[in-house]
Amino acid sequence: MKIVICESVDEAAHAAAEVIIAQVAKNSASRLGLATGSTVEPIYKEVVNLGRLRNISFRAVTTFNLDEYVSVAKEDSYRATMEKLLFSHLDFVSKNTNIPNGASHNLLEEAGRYERLIQAGGIDLQLLGIGRNGHIGFNEPGTPFERSTHVAKLAKATREANTKFFGHSSVMPREAITIGLKTIMSALEIVVVAFGSEKASIVAQAFEGQVVEDVPASVLQRHPRVTVILDRSAAGELQHISRSVSFRA
Ligand code: GLP
Repeated sequence: MKIVICESVDEAAHAAAEVIIAQVAKNSASRLGLATGSTVEPIYKEVVNLGRLRNISFRAVTTFNLDEYVSVAKEDSYRATMEKLLFSHLDFVSKNTNIPNGASHNLLEEAGRYERLIQAGGIDLQLLGIGRNGHIGFNEPGTPFERSTHVAKLAKATREANTKFFGHSSVMPREAITIGLKTIMSALEIVVVAFGSEKASIVAQAFEGQVVEDVPASVLQRHPRVTVILDRSAAGELQHISRSVSFRA
């Protein structure tokens, strides 16, 4: 596991965007696993900047988002968020941008369909944020490491943290479809990003603590190709900083 500590959020977002751009430059038909949440917003902004600057085409890229809320208003969905932050700004082809359908009448079937879609070609590069309780995707504490795509009940802490994304007229959902920890671990390469002092404790637990199901992100310690990109505040509680490298060394 490589830990990269950056001076600022901007620098960290740039570092993460460079990894995504490099993947697409290397393989124009890359299969990218994408995340949502406030952490990835500056990263997508930078992917758009760099993509335009360097004339990188995303036409042949296939994307798979980690998760989608169940029964959410269209404008609050992760589909709408992804269109707004990323897809509409570059030449992504809409049929290649996959997000679970949280409006499906048969959520179990939808979870199975989504898992099969991912496994049909795998994921080359998976981008992840981390919840304050250690969740990745919507795999909340206690989720078995062996789970594939499933319907997840959102933890109270997650609902509280994500309420800010919902206008007062809409209601924060209680469930989501999420790819599982097993699905995440099947990606060839993973980039995890965390910013801010409120993530410092969980970052230390996840990447220097024991690998336990109560801290879902800790499973990433078992993956052979993980890069953790942090700003200084999110790295604040790591004990073994000497093992870490700075992006601009
Ligand atoms: C959200 C998403 C995760 C995200 C995490 C962190 O609920 N389902 O994929 O990485 O929680 O969110 P944020 O970046 O807003 O802190």
